Amino acid sequence: MGIEQVLPFTEKLHPSVKKLFEERQKSLANPEEYWDEKARALIWFKYWDRVLDDSNPPFYRWFVGGVTNITVNTLDRWVKTEVRNRVAYYWEGEPGDRRVLSYQDLYREVNKFAKVLRGLGVGPGDRVVIYMPMIPELPVAMLAAARIGAIHSVVFSGFSPNALADRIVDAKPKILVTADGYYRRGKIINLKSKADKGLEIAEKMGVKVGKVVVVERGGVSVDYDFVEGRDLYYSELVSKTPDNTYVEPEPRRSEDILFILYTSGTTGKPKGIMHSVGGYMVWVYWSFKWTWDPRPDDVMWTMADIGWITGHTYIVYGPLLHGITSVMYEGAPDYPEPDRPWEIVERYRVTIFYTSPTAVRLLRRYGEEWVKKHDLSSLRLIGSVGEPINPDVWKWYHDVVGGGKTPVIDTWWQTETGAAMIAPAPGIALVPLKPGSATYPLPGVDADVVDEEGRPVKPGVKGYLVIKKPWPGMLLGIWGDPERYVKTYWEKYSRPDEGVWVYYPADYAIRDEDGYLWLLGRADEVLNVAGHRVSTAEIEHAIVAHPAVAEAAVIGVPDPVKGEVPLAVVVLREGYEPSRELEQEIRSYVSEVYTPIAAPSRVLFVRKLPKTRSGKIMRRLIRAVVTGATLGDVSTLEDEASVDEIVSAWAEFGRELGDAA
Ligand code: WT7
Repeated sequence: MGIEQVLPFTEKLHPSVKKLFEERQKSLANPEEYWDEKARALIWFKYWDRVLDDSNPPFYRWFVGGVTNITVNTLDRWVKTEVRNRVAYYWEGEPGDRRVLSYQDLYREVNKFAKVLRGLGVGPGDRVVIYMPMIPELPVAMLAAARIGAIHSVVFSGFSPNALADRIVDAKPKILVTADGYYRRGKIINLKSKADKGLEIAEKMGVKVGKVVVVERGGVSVDYDFVEGRDLYYSELVSKTPDNTYVEPEPRRSEDILFILYTSGTTGKPKGIMHSVGGYMVWVYWSFKWTWDPRPDDVMWTMADIGWITGHTYIVYGPLLHGITSVMYEGAPDYPEPDRPWEIVERYRVTIFYTSPTAVRLLRRYGEEWVKKHDLSSLRLIGSVGEPINPDVWKWYHDVVGGGKTPVIDTWWQTETGAAMIAPAPGIALVPLKPGSATYPLPGVDADVVDEEGRPVKPGVKGYLVIKKPWPGMLLGIWGDPERYVKTYWEKYSRPDEGVWVYYPADYAIRDEDGYLWLLGRADEVLNVAGHRVSTAEIEHAIVAHPAVAEAAVIGVPDPVKGEVPLAVVVLREGYEPSRELEQEIRSYVSEVYTPIAAPSRVLFVRKLPKTRSGKIMRRLIRAVVTGATLGDVSTLEDEASVDEIVSAWAEFGRELGDAA
């Protein structure tokens, strides 16, 4: 591929842009040669026979024949050098309790727990579900599983027992690792009881987990049942294991599964995204190097939960592959005061700070006095991920947090892509930034913006983002559902007869005159609430499970802090009347059976949902009413009165707001 094809302009190139594009052109012109060289930056037990096996698209396999173990690259590599004494994690609990783990400490804890897991009968390919809060034992458990070749599947601790059960039933783990409890906004959350409930539901659905390891968070006292013969205390198991325990890292094939992480799709069933041992490792290593330009004295704080892909890649694997220090924080960003993040940045002299636009908007709301109270001069790069960042929020972040000089690294990627795909790359050359744009694709990423038919759109025209070549960090597939993998990501734009395979991320994008990419959010029925992916279908399922509800439709509506929040339109069963109490009950119900993130901001009660004659809910029309847009084509609408009902329910809501003001 010539540079002209990836760049609409060739004259007057900014030198950084030129440098970035030369590297990217090299990567796309001859990917196999490029990655063959790049992958050698990591330690392998055996090098690959083939860089990319593309014989069975879209089931691409990277570094086939290669054998490695990611814990050798994140731990063994460093404990052989002076990095052993470097801090791996500065951990801070919400109440202010602290722990510090060096690379040597982490290595020891991982070996010990790896031994424990093996002793409990966990072997290569077995699943280990980890339902844990943000405490150091969470990365320890992930790495211990990886060391013995098991597949970890972390379930976000904020998820409900039902959500945990769904994931357990799908992944069928040998073991669950959980904790007694944790702090959130000053309250103690009883996680073990939630885990027990999840295990009970899973068992009713036919999947019984044999062993449960319970980590004691320390300082939390919660009541729960301890099931003899099933439950085991982490502390007891580990204290019985000698400190000098060494567990031989299990040789893993590059194309083996490193982990499964569930994410929401357009149906009610979450997708188990599988990432590979070799490809994920190589991609995380390089993508991280390009976007953060890591240096030995860096202290990185990624303010996400490890229960999401951001935490997997930017709290666990990325920083550890580069031997740098991370901060890990347990609690809420504005607890006990809105300057908690800035206090943490100052305390640990954080150099790389990475968060979501939602968090930035929240912290901005409290006012810049809270930021100004602290010395943030250690910051070198400040990142953004998870949602489009509004230009004004970008500017506030840059000026107030970054002191007007720290580059904002807006990174576009997804659970499925493993690590950042489109982002400024100071590790190669920092291109001039534009507030709100993630700038250019990284090397190895053949991104384009196309129309409904797959034709590239002109600069400035909104289209769909596509990725036209496989990249090492791509997902292996969906656990247990190869068909859904092909259908979800490859069907829309691929032309198998012509041997053309195109990855569809389901995001809108614009490419401007300078070739900069502007990512505009989801193009499917998936909501992005505070940077978290939740599906309308999953929320609808949760609402419909409520005894008062007959039918429900959920859409996303704009929110000044969270970017987008769910709004539900609900039809009640016979015998139930709309009320504020019932609305509140439905919201709490969703928090409980799914997750508080997905609780609808509003519930509108109607007698009929707008549907097509074939019975499909027309969410588009609800959205039009709520956002004040034109209705568009209503020829397939079964009953126009259903739209009128939403109009009046929405107007009623407007009047209530007026009354309250
Ligand atoms: C979706 C992926 C990637 C880790 C966190 C979320 C949206 C992500 C950006 C960005 C605009 C973004 C997309 C994407 N998204 N980063 N920088 N600008 N939108 O991971 O839960 O897999 O969600 O988040 O819509 O598809 P995820």
